[in-house]
Amino acid sequence: MRIDHKEPRLLGESAHIRAVRHEIETAARSDAKVLITGETGVGKDVVARLIHQASARSAAPLAAVNCAGVPDSLMESELFGHVRGSFTGAYRDKPGILEAAAHGTVFLDEVGEMSLRMQAALLRFLETGEIQRVGADRVRATADVRVIAATNRELDPEIAGGAFRLDLYYRLNVLRIAVPPLRERKEDIPLLLDHFMGCCSRQPGAPDRRLSAKALALLVAYRWPGNVRQLKNVVERLTFSRCGEIIEPHDLPPELQATPCAHASGSDDSPSAPQPVEAELLSRMLQGGESFWSVVHSPFMNHDLSRAHLKNIVAHGLQRTGGNYRMVVELFNMPAGHYKRFLGFLQKHQCQVPYRSFRAASPPAARAA
Ligand SMILES: Nc1ncnc2c1ncn2[C@@H]1O[C@H](COP(=O)(O)OP(=O)(O)OP(=O)(O)O)[C@@H](O)[C@H]1O
Ligand SMILES: [Mg+2]
Repeated sequence: MRIDHKEPRLLGESAHIRAVRHEIETAARSDAKVLITGETGVGKDVVARLIHQASARSAAPLAAVNCAGVPDSLMESELFGHVRGSFTGAYRDKPGILEAAAHGTVFLDEVGEMSLRMQAALLRFLETGEIQRVGADRVRATADVRVIAATNRELDPEIAGGAFRLDLYYRLNVLRIAVPPLRERKEDIPLLLDHFMGCCSRQPGAPDRRLSAKALALLVAYRWPGNVRQLKNVVERLTFSRCGEIIEPHDLPPELQATPCAHASGSDDSPSAPQPVEAELLSRMLQGGESFWSVVHSPFMNHDLSRAHLKNIVAHGLQRTGGNYRMVVELFNMPAGHYKRFLGFLQKHQCQVPYRSFRAASPPAARAA
């Protein structure tokens, strides 16, 4: 068990993170159980702590227990406590976290890992609120705690396979907050990098380092299977690695150098990291669903957007679609029938970007053909 007092922060300005923040506010106003889902490292812990902190229970403790890999006997004693002599080593009576967190919040992390026996015990508690310490012959008390659970496992297949109880799922899943993976909110990556690099540079003896545009582009393009935790670790490693003041692609860990845009990095056509204006327009099309014609074409025709910006935006579209102009039309929210109009427009203003270099996956023979 750990009782947390750390200051949690959920950084990010993507629509996804703003929606999660809104859901946290809603959850904090009620006392309902919450199930937080999302891949490892996305920030489920942070979300749980923010809910507790903003709730009416914030003056009482938040007690967290990780349900993964804990033997049933230990888990039972962790949750419900035990009485002296109930097992070897139980020298005195000890309250469990459901009692220790009275009037506060209990955070059950990785709840999908709980055994069926412990699921039954938890369900009983959720239904009655009664606590019976291990080894005790009667119910000791009823607990006033709010329960928040988290899982990085999909629970549907677990339920279908009989490994997770449906009735417990219904009990826990009153409010649901799904934290999206970092690759689905790429616009948050520069902000998170900036934040963690700032934190690292304030450590004693840490050098002040910056990312080159190419290194930043690789970090944004990467899939981040370990999400924010992985990003934080990468920044920590870079802070104390032996690279120069500017972090270049070759300074990054190998798995990051292998992201798609690294393949094209030797080519003249590879897009440079989007400048703020390009990033904004790309985000309006890719996340906001606005059309190329209104977002890019109009300012270009009004001389508010340069040819270089337009070409780099198109290059980013080609990079995401593996060099497929038809898919770029779709990606930039134009009707499929606008394919010729789109190409005609680019041609007329000498903004066509060669697509071949983006087809990095095709073997040389196929490319020659
Ligand atoms: N949006 C964010 N802003 C700032 N820091 C974040 C954000 N999301 C996550 N972090 C940090 O990333 C790390 C991992 O987050 P957290 O522990 O909440 O992930 P998790 O989803 O609970 O992972 P797991 O499933 O492995 O338990 C923590 O150090 C956390 O502070
Ligand atoms: Mg966690």
